[in-house]
Amino acid sequence: MVDFEHRNGALHCEDVPLAAIAEAVGTPVYVYSTAAMLQNLREFRDALAEVTDPLIAYAVKANPNAAVLRVLADAGAGADIVSGGEYRRARDAGVPPDKIVFAGVGKAEAEMALALAGGLYQFNVESLAEAEMLSALACALGKTAPVGFRINPDVGAGGHAKITTGAAASKFGIAIGEALDGYARAAALPGLAVHGVAVHIGSQLTSLEPLERAFTRLGELIGALRSAGHDIRVADLGGGLGVPYDPGHPPPPSAQDYGAMVRRVTSGWNTRLVFEPGRLIVASAGLLLSRVIRLKPGAADPFVIVDAAMNDLMRPALYDAWHKIDAVRPGGERWTANVVGPVCETGDTFATAREMDRVEAGDLIVFRTAGAYAATMASTYNSRPLTPEVLVDGDRWTLVRPRIDVDALVAAGCADGGND
Ligand code: LLP
Repeated sequence: MVDFEHRNGALHCEDVPLAAIAEAVGTPVYVYSTAAMLQNLREFRDALAEVTDPLIAYAVKANPNAAVLRVLADAGAGADIVSGGEYRRARDAGVPPDKIVFAGVGKAEAEMALALAGGLYQFNVESLAEAEMLSALACALGKTAPVGFRINPDVGAGGHAKITTGAAASKFGIAIGEALDGYARAAALPGLAVHGVAVHIGSQLTSLEPLERAFTRLGELIGALRSAGHDIRVADLGGGLGVPYDPGHPPPPSAQDYGAMVRRVTSGWNTRLVFEPGRLIVASAGLLLSRVIRLKPGAADPFVIVDAAMNDLMRPALYDAWHKIDAVRPGGERWTANVVGPVCETGDTFATAREMDRVEAGDLIVFRTAGAYAATMASTYNSRPLTPEVLVDGDRWTLVRPRIDVDALVAAGCADGGND
């Protein structure tokens, strides 16, 4: 990725040396490249060039940083949201209501009300009970809710069991076999305008085959729904396309391959297509910058103890995720080491027996491909500060989330509130 490259032996984000950011902000810190995310969005859009008027609704959950959302909104992206908080963030970033789709199995009444009041393109409703609550609320507010059902196509896929959503046993969507009945019932509800279908089968998909199977089933359902008299105008195909994390593995299908498959499978559908890419837009545009605290001998390989931990980047602990680790200023020597954080759990392990740049105490390292599902999943476990975020644009950088330090955490826990 040209947006993170070594120049004169030192890793840069665009034109900014990472060491300068570490110096000014401290570590650990997330660093994002504006150019990389815009390029990813452009590539996805180009891949859909032959699709008429697609709605590209960036999955806010992947990286909800306000500055990141602003960059994507300014470039014309819509938003796929899953909470009232994400609705607010999308609107604050300037995403117009008619580019917002709202997914999620557990939308609360207050969240539905927020989106109804402010407007949105479509609720992706995941159960009949949700449809009934939404209809009643819409009627009470004097609104009509634009609705599509999220269909569970019984196609399981995803980079890890915990991010697979389309299998029959998962909590998501209504079973494809019950869809006709569900649409018939929902069509009779007074507060809804039911014009859409939606599907999302999982994340970090490394093959197009399950997506194609799910879309094919969705296409058949659209035909059946139309035959039953439903006016289906929108098909939301979700997100899920994977990104390369490990250069030693074959890369996932490209956006171009995905676009070609979509065009082939959806030709003749006669619906507006919605896409919800998250990881594809931001993952490769970010990294986590960290400093080596000390080295320690291990039973087989040495431990590299860094100042980032599982609370800053959860993905390895949660999904056994693999993030490439590089020295900011590699000395040319390689070794095999275990990279761990300071948190008191063995799960706080980023890499085991990893072949990587040889590093010393005090050196800076990066975890690559950490723009998606990384800063947003950070916590303050072990009373560690919340990691700051920096956005780079050319030779300028901006602190777009400050470090939420221990003073702030302690203060938040010491308020005089409560009811006693
Ligand atoms: N649409 C819906 C309804 C979703 O649930 C998701 C992701 C997306 C779109 C975006 O999927 P993407 O294009 O980013 O794959 N924390 C996990 C990933 C969880 C994905 C949840 N849903 C990870 O770190 O791998």
